[in-house]
Amino acid sequence: MNLQFNDRSVTVAIVGCGGFIGSHLLDAVLCRTKWRVFGVDLDFYRIQHRLNDERCEFLCADLSNPEVLNRIAQFPVVVNLAAICTPSRYMSEACEVIRSNYDRPVALAEACAKSGAWLIHFSTSEVYGRTGSDSGELSEDETPLSFGPVGASRWSYATAKLLTERYIAGLDGLKWTMVRPFNFVGPYMDFMPGVDGEGIPRVLANFSSALLRGEPLKLVNGGKARRCFTGIYDAIDFIFAVFAAGTNRQLNMADAGGVSEFSDSPAYSQIFNVGNPDNEVTIAELAQRMRNIYASIREVPVESLPQPEVVSGEDYYGVGYDDSMRRMPNVEKAWKLLGFRASMGLDDCLRDSLKWFVGHYA
Ligand code: UGA
Repeated sequence: MNLQFNDRSVTVAIVGCGGFIGSHLLDAVLCRTKWRVFGVDLDFYRIQHRLNDERCEFLCADLSNPEVLNRIAQFPVVVNLAAICTPSRYMSEACEVIRSNYDRPVALAEACAKSGAWLIHFSTSEVYGRTGSDSGELSEDETPLSFGPVGASRWSYATAKLLTERYIAGLDGLKWTMVRPFNFVGPYMDFMPGVDGEGIPRVLANFSSALLRGEPLKLVNGGKARRCFTGIYDAIDFIFAVFAAGTNRQLNMADAGGVSEFSDSPAYSQIFNVGNPDNEVTIAELAQRMRNIYASIREVPVESLPQPEVVSGEDYYGVGYDDSMRRMPNVEKAWKLLGFRASMGLDDCLRDSLKWFVGHYA
């Protein structure tokens, strides 16, 4: 019943294949399966080594064009990773963030509902919203979701992502699986400000950049917020667990006259948290761990690195910044339905990412 990884006739569409997660997924699909890939993105720098691969076809496009949507949806499995997910942009470009995270994925979902493609859509752990420091584990099907007021434009992204989740779940005839990532980290994450991107990347890339430049790490509002960082290789294993839960019947769209039939995959119509609750730290602790690991990679005394500095969220990100104080996933559902559990420890994740960052940018 499982999806055949050695079936050369399968093509998976990866939307956002040039991004952080997409580039790792592309490598994994090409290494672990015999499938072909139809990759869509606007930026291909992370995947230059794959551009001439005979099993790949790439399209430089976004999802605003209906022809592009129809082309993507002709493939039996569509993984949608495309999104603007840089918090500093949630305030300064709220409307573009909403278009990117609502209008375009919803149009793709409609195209998939028409063609019968299985849509594996990446949402965000940010849909849990303005969690307090005493929040317990966040469960996909039980935890209430609540955001700050409209003036706190930090929530433009989460609101758009949540509405997309609701739309996908309500769309007649769509075969779907949704994923809420909890702070994936690893090589190729985000960018180094002023080198290959502008603005403020997510915390791991930001701390790595500061370490490389010999600048203090900035602790927003004291670095009291907590996150559970998840290794990118665990995240890729999760996607493969989802693929494995697909069925042959679902893939044989041509045999079914273009319309695939629903069958009993445990991944269909499910939202999954993907995170590592064992890797929880405050951002202040993260800063200390990263300083230690960086010092050992560069073989310098940790005391020679600048001490972290506290900054206010508003000064750092702009008016409208707000935060989730604790984001701890309940991961039982992925374990029960797919047999998946993340296993990469925090220091291994950080060492792996920092080594790559130093090698790539130093
Ligand atoms: C971001 C996105 O908005 C989420 O949608 C996404 O799911 C998530 O990243 C993710 O990577 O999974 P967030 O966890 O707030 O959400 O992302 P970061 O920008 O990495 O911030 C984490 C924490 O570190 C926040 O409390 C932030 O204020 C703090 N931070 C960030 C610092 O203290 N210093 C920095 O230089 C950057």
